[in-house]
Amino acid sequence: MNLTLKGIPVIAIDGPSASGKGTVAQLVAEKLGFHYLDSGALYRLLALAASRRGVSFEDEEKLARLAEGLAIRFENGEIWMDGERVGDAIRTEECGNGASMIAAYPRVRAALLGLQRTFCKAPGLVADGRDMGSVVFPAATLKIFLTASAEVRADRRYKQLMEKGMRANIRQILHDIRQRDERDSARSVAPLQKCADASLLETSALTIAQAVDEVLARFRQVGVQ
Ligand code: CDP
Repeated sequence: MNLTLKGIPVIAIDGPSASGKGTVAQLVAEKLGFHYLDSGALYRLLALAASRRGVSFEDEEKLARLAEGLAIRFENGEIWMDGERVGDAIRTEECGNGASMIAAYPRVRAALLGLQRTFCKAPGLVADGRDMGSVVFPAATLKIFLTASAEVRADRRYKQLMEKGMRANIRQILHDIRQRDERDSARSVAPLQKCADASLLETSALTIAQAVDEVLARFRQVGVQ
């Protein structure tokens, strides 16, 4: 059994854009009564803060300083930044694309590392992102690489945006997803990749409930619950 330093079980769920890992991770956390870290939300929050304050997405230094000073709070499924409820403002495609751009900077990633690790609390954590298993929680109890084909992911993202009442164009989404996959995989720091000790979960043909059950089954297999 491979536990984290503090003896707290961690399930790391990494994977590409719109793979459904956020939904799956949240449900797994609920079922186990564990905490949940949406690490992508932190990059999205930073992109939102930067655009509101006029900080260029090309200014790594200023972005890193902004990341260090952000007052972020997650509370009952709500996110607060600098005393203001953020709501769906970070869920737009513009914010997602901005997040992907600024996430390529090593100093930005370093500035957000400590904050992410504070989420590791008893009785356990489910963390979702790109580098949960490789960088943030390398000693995670279970590492899952959750993916689906680009077409299935575009369809999932389209439905998600429609449900939120946001405007969406499926062809544009597919184009953005491919572009984001490329940027996330090609960056020099913490690139999107399946680590050797992660187990692959291909969800193109799975429902959310099936994917959740599969993660829980693999977690039971590693012998914690
Ligand atoms: O919803 P989607 O999967 O598209 O993205 P997200 O998880 O909300 O993350 C937004 C962007 O932040 C991603 O495209 C990544 O570039 C970046 N990210 C990252 O670099 N590392 C993480 N641990 C999480 C997100």
